[in-house]
Amino acid sequence: MREMFYADILENKLLLGEVYDMRLYAPKEVQKAKAGQFLSLYTGNAALLLPRPLSICAADTVSGVFRVIYRAVGEGTREIATLKPGDRVRLLGPLGSFYRVFPEHKRFALVGGGMGAPPMLALAKKIRKEALDAHISVFLGFRSKFQTILEDDFKKYANEVIVATDDGTQGIKGNAVQALAADPNFDIIYGCGPKIMLKFLAKFAEEREIPCYVSVEEHMACSVGACLACVVKVKDGENWAYRRVCNTGPVFNAKELVWDE
Ligand SMILES: Cc1cc2nc3c(=O)[nH]c(=O)nc-3n(C[C@H](O)[C@H](O)[C@H](O)COP(=O)(O)OP(=O)(O)OC[C@H]3O[C@@H](n4cnc5c(N)ncnc54)[C@H](O)[C@@H]3O)c2cc1C
Ligand code: FES
Repeated sequence: MREMFYADILENKLLLGEVYDMRLYAPKEVQKAKAGQFLSLYTGNAALLLPRPLSICAADTVSGVFRVIYRAVGEGTREIATLKPGDRVRLLGPLGSFYRVFPEHKRFALVGGGMGAPPMLALAKKIRKEALDAHISVFLGFRSKFQTILEDDFKKYANEVIVATDDGTQGIKGNAVQALAADPNFDIIYGCGPKIMLKFLAKFAEEREIPCYVSVEEHMACSVGACLACVVKVKDGENWAYRRVCNTGPVFNAKELVWDE
């Protein structure tokens, strides 16, 4: 298959709790990657046939290294967590749609909830590179301070990084959309995180007529558009239609999606 490749694991370390930070050496594929796209990793365990989709957190074209951050939540990701530096893994990618940056925009809001934060880092880097005078505000939402990730990484590219926690142990008490609502003066909003968060983000942006692009996660099987496991509903005139997240998404214009389910 066209998108299949192998990469060498350079690092796969526990960040906190069940969250791992993995670096993979794949110099050719890194050059093709765009912020918002994902990789799908085969676990190496033949019993687990399907690859697991993970967002690209960074793709460093100089070192040829991908970074992905993932939570070990089930059989596949727990298997991935056992990989060691020097191991070789099979992947598909870079897959899917990506975040576009528009030159007319100056004030950018990036909203990441939980494991939706990692792809926002790749986007922050892209915006800083393409729009040097951009004002980038990053809103990160986590359950508690013990689950906060990537705050210092975002500070390399963002003008401000605002953390919100459900229990109030760090930053604003509440979620990332509530943190954003304190200053709704943005030209464009990008988001990734749990569906409920994205639904509120889409509503927030629509009410203020701010363009909004979100990356959605659906359960995937093939990752390449062949099985329909990953469909979401998009508006289609007065009706709706299904779109595959793995090849039409994961990044969609928030206005195109049907949110009411
Ligand atoms: C485009 C895309 C990008 C993603 N990026 C990341 C990332 O950067 N970091 C990260 O930690 N996770 C990410 N995920 C989610 C990740 O793919 C799943 O957690 C993983 O596939 C679960 O596999 P498993 O075998 O470990 O768990 P399973 O045993 O399959 O499931 C364990 C639990 O995870 C839930 N789950 C399974 N698949 C998904 C999914 N696609 N979305 C949400 N919940 C799921 C199940 O409902 C179940 O509760 C992404 C998913 C998609 C579709
Ligand atoms: S996962 Fe098979 S079509 Fe998207």
